[in-house]
Amino acid sequence: MSNSTPPPSRAVAITGAASGIGAQTARLLIAQDVEVIALDRHAPDFAVARFIQVDLADPASIDAAATLLPDALAGLCNVAGVPGTAGADKVARVNYLGLRQLTEAALPKIARSGSIVNVASTAGQNWQDRRALHVELAATRNFDDGLNWLAQHPVSDPGAYAYFKEALIVWTMTRAAALRSAAGIRINCISPGPTDTPILKDFRVTLGAANVDDAIRRAGGVGTPLAIAPAIVFLLQSESAWITGANLPVDGGLLASRILDPV
Ligand SMILES: NC(=O)c1ccc[n+]([C@@H]2O[C@H](COP(=O)([O-])OP(=O)(O)OC[C@H]3O[C@@H](n4cnc5c(N)ncnc54)[C@H](O)[C@@H]3O)[C@@H](O)[C@H]2O)c1
Repeated sequence: MSNSTPPPSRAVAITGAASGIGAQTARLLIAQDVEVIALDRHAPDFAVARFIQVDLADPASIDAAATLLPDALAGLCNVAGVPGTAGADKVARVNYLGLRQLTEAALPKIARSGSIVNVASTAGQNWQDRRALHVELAATRNFDDGLNWLAQHPVSDPGAYAYFKEALIVWTMTRAAALRSAAGIRINCISPGPTDTPILKDFRVTLGAANVDDAIRRAGGVGTPLAIAPAIVFLLQSESAWITGANLPVDGGLLASRILDPV
């Protein structure tokens, strides 16, 4: 019996799949028989359908990796990130410009009804304070244009992590309507609170130990990758089909606590 409708794609590409939240997301999807394509600097220490080595700080490496992606991806999870201790240039490249470049390069390979999930942070909560700047940066056409814009609008090392998480939330929102109407693709963010992964210790250095401890108190403890990854999986699935351009905090109530206790 012939059937002209191809089966829905079961392939999802995940950056940062070698560690922390990305690795947990990969494991959950593999348990659901999803074909996981891991993109990272390092190979995961568990079996994936395919590992593509990439340096998200380097546009040439990103373009080469994008050509290796299979067609008709069901989703792309942009999880990889570096903390502020990496310095503003690296944070800009990996957490924003590289993420954006990979996403735009991967778009032709994402199936209609596919879903893109970006991992931002509660550190990006104040995006509205710099909305105009982030909209301008989002309008830059590519990695190099973004670098040129940033040369005119420099960001300090201590502020870089929050700045580029804010920028990621805004870019996600700016892309949502066009991606939906042009390609039927959704794009959303999640914003984790403090989560027990290798980069948490770096946040104590750049954000200050007192701020991290305050965030942990507000969140009722430190989150685990297993507390974060199901939200990413939900945003990949058709059950979330009406959600696009959103930023979902996954933070134990950390952000909500500021309504009554703003400091
Ligand atoms: N851990 C937290 O408290 C927390 C809180 C909010 C948001 N986040 C965000 O969650 C995401 C995942 O972080 P995590 O906590 O799982 O950290 P992690 O350090 O465990 O994982 C980060 C992954 O990104 C990869 N990576 C880093 N630079 C790369 C590059 N140049 N090219 C390719 N891959 C690269 C690493 O190799 C690693 O596998 C990040 O975007 C981070 O900013 C983390």
